[in-house]
Amino acid sequence: MKNFFSFHDVENINDLLANALEIKKNPFSQQEIGKNKTVGLLFFNPSLRTRVSSQKAAYNLGANVWVLNAGSDAWTLETEDGVVMNGDTQEHLKDAVRVLAKYCDLLGVRTFPKLQNKEYDYNEVLFHKILSESSVPVVSLETATLHPLQSFADLITVAEHSHFQSERKKVKVVLTWAPHPKKLPQSVPNSFAQWFSNVDWIDLTIVQPKGYELNPEFTQGAAIEYDQDKALEGADFVYAKNWSSYEHYGQILSQDESWTITMEKMKRTNNGKFMHCLPVRRNVIVTDEVLDSDYSLVTSEAENRIYSAQTVFHELLKNS
Ligand code: CP
Repeated sequence: MKNFFSFHDVENINDLLANALEIKKNPFSQQEIGKNKTVGLLFFNPSLRTRVSSQKAAYNLGANVWVLNAGSDAWTLETEDGVVMNGDTQEHLKDAVRVLAKYCDLLGVRTFPKLQNKEYDYNEVLFHKILSESSVPVVSLETATLHPLQSFADLITVAEHSHFQSERKKVKVVLTWAPHPKKLPQSVPNSFAQWFSNVDWIDLTIVQPKGYELNPEFTQGAAIEYDQDKALEGADFVYAKNWSSYEHYGQILSQDESWTITMEKMKRTNNGKFMHCLPVRRNVIVTDEVLDSDYSLVTSEAENRIYSAQTVFHELLKNS
């Protein structure tokens, strides 16, 4: 692994998962890896879990950490190339990344999409600019189209709550669209689809209203449904998430409340568990009753963000 941007940077997913489960059992056993090393975390957008879990992961490895919020802590960055910088931007992204890479051994970056230009977002222009200027490995802390540390944490959580190894049967995971008042990126569902459709002990079903189909590049191998009740039948895990339309890029096509996950819906499952990456809008995406019940794994997923980050940081720092 040279950088961490997507599932394709993982050589063997079952080995990486096994590493994460081992690290979780004994999180302070590899502090030599981070000795005299620094993890830099650069955020262009807000975060609670990613920011704090990444710091905790670095500390567990014995590394130092700095965090920079590009929008508020530092100069306003220019991201376009070749512009005459006589306006509001004070420093070019190129110069900032070249300098920041001198202050760390691994650079984590979060960049959300603006959801205005599908080609710009899906070419991951900003992330690739950062990658090309950084002299140290770069880890995605969520980019325009993917959120790989979240998907890896979700996979750790499903593995911990599955009996797939003993029963030798596949686990049914359902990714369902749910309503939301704001237009949200497709990064979490794209990434979830990419990871979960590539794991041999998981059967992934994606269910959404018409018009909300994700980019097929990420959903190959998943069953696609439009009837949520039918999709939930027999599910072992229900992952709810809102996303805006990919086809009608960035648009909200529906706010249909009948897609909110309720206890009635969970009863259709195979005593299934509820999952969401957080932050979640209570009683919009999912009811309080489900979130506060034993069905809910949302806090475990957030906890596992430490171990997904720690496993990836470990892979990248051990060779640096
Ligand atoms: N799930 C997640 O990435 O949370 P934050 O946006 O709070 O980091």
